[in-house]
Amino acid sequence: MKYIKFFIFVLALPVFAQQGGMWIPSLLEGMNETEMQALGMKMNAEDIYSVNQSSLKDAVVHFNGGCTAEVISNQGLILTNHHCGYSQIQSHSTVKNDYLAEGFWASSKDKELKNPGLTVTFIKEITDVTKQVLVGTEKAKTEKNRQQLIEKNISQLIKNSPKEPWQSNRVKAFYNGNQYMLFRVETFKDVRLVGAPPSSIGKFGSDTDNWMWPRHTGDFSLFRIYADKNNRPAEYSETNVPYQPKHHLPISLDGVEENDFTLIFGFPGRTSEYLPAIAVEQLVNTINPSRIKIREAALKEQDVFMRNSQDIKIKYASKYAGIANYYKKWIGENQGLKKSNAIAIKKEQEQAFLKRVKEAKLEEAYGSLLDNFDAAYKDFVDYNLAYNYFSEVFLRNVELLKTGFQLYQLEQVLDFRGEKAFNDRKENLLVNFESSFKNYSAKVDQKVFEKLISIYADGTPKQFITDKFISANKKELTKNIYNKSALTSFTSLQNLLSKSSPQTVIKALNQDKGYQLVKELTQDFYAKVLPVYQAKQLEIKKLQKQYMKALLELSPKEDRLFPDANSTLRVTYGKVKGYSPKDAVYYEPVSYLEGVIEKYIPDDYEFDVPQKLIDLYEAKDYGKYGYNGKMPVNFIGTNHTTGGNSGSPAIDAEGNLIGLNFDRVWEGTMSDIYYDPSISRNIMVDVRYILFIIDKFADAQHLIEEMTLVHPKE
Ligand code: ARG
Ligand code: GLU
Repeated sequence: MKYIKFFIFVLALPVFAQQGGMWIPSLLEGMNETEMQALGMKMNAEDIYSVNQSSLKDAVVHFNGGCTAEVISNQGLILTNHHCGYSQIQSHSTVKNDYLAEGFWASSKDKELKNPGLTVTFIKEITDVTKQVLVGTEKAKTEKNRQQLIEKNISQLIKNSPKEPWQSNRVKAFYNGNQYMLFRVETFKDVRLVGAPPSSIGKFGSDTDNWMWPRHTGDFSLFRIYADKNNRPAEYSETNVPYQPKHHLPISLDGVEENDFTLIFGFPGRTSEYLPAIAVEQLVNTINPSRIKIREAALKEQDVFMRNSQDIKIKYASKYAGIANYYKKWIGENQGLKKSNAIAIKKEQEQAFLKRVKEAKLEEAYGSLLDNFDAAYKDFVDYNLAYNYFSEVFLRNVELLKTGFQLYQLEQVLDFRGEKAFNDRKENLLVNFESSFKNYSAKVDQKVFEKLISIYADGTPKQFITDKFISANKKELTKNIYNKSALTSFTSLQNLLSKSSPQTVIKALNQDKGYQLVKELTQDFYAKVLPVYQAKQLEIKKLQKQYMKALLELSPKEDRLFPDANSTLRVTYGKVKGYSPKDAVYYEPVSYLEGVIEKYIPDDYEFDVPQKLIDLYEAKDYGKYGYNGKMPVNFIGTNHTTGGNSGSPAIDAEGNLIGLNFDRVWEGTMSDIYYDPSISRNIMVDVRYILFIIDKFADAQHLIEEMTLVHPKE
């Protein structure tokens, strides 16, 4: 592993205060440690990650596999985002006790609410196992053999690496399969809801403010980890006790100023920082615009109904938010990629790369990589576009098509796996349909269908769909289907599915107008798009792995290559910093409660403010949490974050909690592909606002009492 030696060599050289990147916590010594200290950090690498002594990593957990949370008391109290705990808060809500609307605060531990299925995972140890995973692979004759050997080595490692009986081992690939890491982890299953502010605080600004700065959201909720009497993971039980962590984060009451050091510690999900220019070009010019167009049409139709009916507004709120979140992100991402000239910069970098390949006399190995990328992506683009059209329209935004697609899979189950599997799948589907149809309106869906099916016909490359479908009158088609199809209500669908035998169910399905259309278009997609799409994707994956290998071998140290996010624990760092989103505009890095009041619209579903918060504001009753007579709410920094970093702790130079990560600024969301320190910013809730809400707004002083509040700046 030549590049590893190379890495160790470059890490020893002095470096300047660079930012950006998501770094592996066990490998911070050297370059990262030096950079962080140059930015003002007072800790060393061992304080952040250590196996032998307690360190910051012992206070950071993966929250339900998708978000991050941190331990903030010696009794297992954890803090994450409101939007991360949203479905748990919702699941305990009823019309009478609507915790989403009113908030929830357990007044004592016995009032905390259990959440079946919710888990949190601690990382106990991270070990580089690249050598062990790749052992023997140099002799593999085909790529397939190589993959099989890698999988075998990984399962051996998982089985044989030391761990306690209540722990487990996982292996993850980094740098597109050029490095492998083993994680020894501990997963807790008894995690109870402790507190949440009302949505008018926790989700203040909703979709209008989402991905935006200036922001004023108290996006937090509190849970508690419970363990058995030996402090180990256990299934829920009344006899479980609050978990005693190895470390919990002290909380700073001293706040932040511009240029203060910040460190974000969490579980970023996915980034693609090393795409070739051609891939970014296709994303910007072809894929993102089509996804944006589809979602825009769906949102527009839903919005009309939601504005006119309270019932539909409630039913579609969560669906709408889900569609809107990435719709808005892709728009910002595209604007940012254009504004930062990401494609041109990537092209320049590629020229520099080719020059290095030549200098190193490695043309044979790497000289044609970029040409191969070009060729592969050119072949790929139509398939990729068709794939995106299909998944956005059929699997995501038209509910009848989504239902139909699941029924098509059911028919396949009968063909390939027999009656028993069919009946099991059918029962499962019925349970899912029963709950999804509770939030369904055929009127809304019909409008979305009509719009999106036309977009699908216009946008899918012509070679993949039939002339008959292209030229069909979509209005007629829509009317016909929504008048007749059983897929438009739970009762009719249930009737259809409860026919006496699997064969009669399938026969009836095949006579259904809605199902017929789904089947025809899905079969086209399966026959003409999917196989080639998957083959091309595999080819591109192989190229990407080689490209990454070459970059690791040949890049100068200034390039600071970090592995793409892969839902493993990472450290990113930077400083509190404002930015200039456009000419003549400068954004300050901190927002205040004044801004909440400025945005306040009584009874609005996005910008209403609870009366008690207004009263506290008017009395300037901020307790020890205010600063110079003002209450800080959110702040931004140059930390390189992505989805999955929601709920991550923002930590100061000495290891104290100063904030809670929850979003990024619109102009900078392209950082998943290209991080630009001049406009990429993460958004955090100021921890003093969280304490203020818990103490002054919710009167939950007993929670404040279990925390460790500190004054590092005094
Ligand atoms: N944009 C943030 C993150 O991806 C927050 C999302 C919360 N949802 C919302 N619709 N406001 O995911
Ligand atoms: N809100 C995102 C999440 O849920 C984090 C923001 C981002 O993508 O940076 O993970």
